[in-house]
Amino acid sequence: MDPISLIVNGSTATVTADDDTPLLDILRNHLGLVGTKFGCGQEQCGCCMVLVDGRPEKSCGKALSTVAGKAITTIEGLGTPDRPHPLQQAFLDEQAGQCGYCLPGILISAKALLDHNPAPSRSQIAEALDDNICRCGSHVRILRAVERAAARLREGGVR
Ligand code: FES
Ligand code: FES
Repeated sequence: MDPISLIVNGSTATVTADDDTPLLDILRNHLGLVGTKFGCGQEQCGCCMVLVDGRPEKSCGKALSTVAGKAITTIEGLGTPDRPHPLQQAFLDEQAGQCGYCLPGILISAKALLDHNPAPSRSQIAEALDDNICRCGSHVRILRAVERAAARLREGGVR
């Protein structure tokens, strides 16, 4: 096992693990970034979503060797309690979610959408979140929250 480096939330992280170790395992168990959640483990639910070089990817199905040198953004890289990303603030404002387990993945997918499309239609938002399952049925509030965040960002919200 040779050490592998990747850039996680802007900082270089070097880990030593088997090449086929899932990125989700690396994030949670090697780097202590437990915001990214384990759900199905089979690329079906989307709660493990992270950005890989700006694209939303399911980290449970990404082998460590495939992300060497790549830039990974996890939910911890979006904002902080003191300085939330406009998406995080909008989800709070809309009370979008119940248990919250799906939200790290949904916020990552929504960020990828808004980074490329600052004014998505509701159907475009739904399409972008198609890979993310919310078992609590908070879909309508989640759609409203993404719309709210998009409007806030267009008005000049940070990020
Ligand atoms: S845990 Fe990765 S898609 Fe469900
Ligand atoms: S808020 Fe519970 S799974 Fe989405």
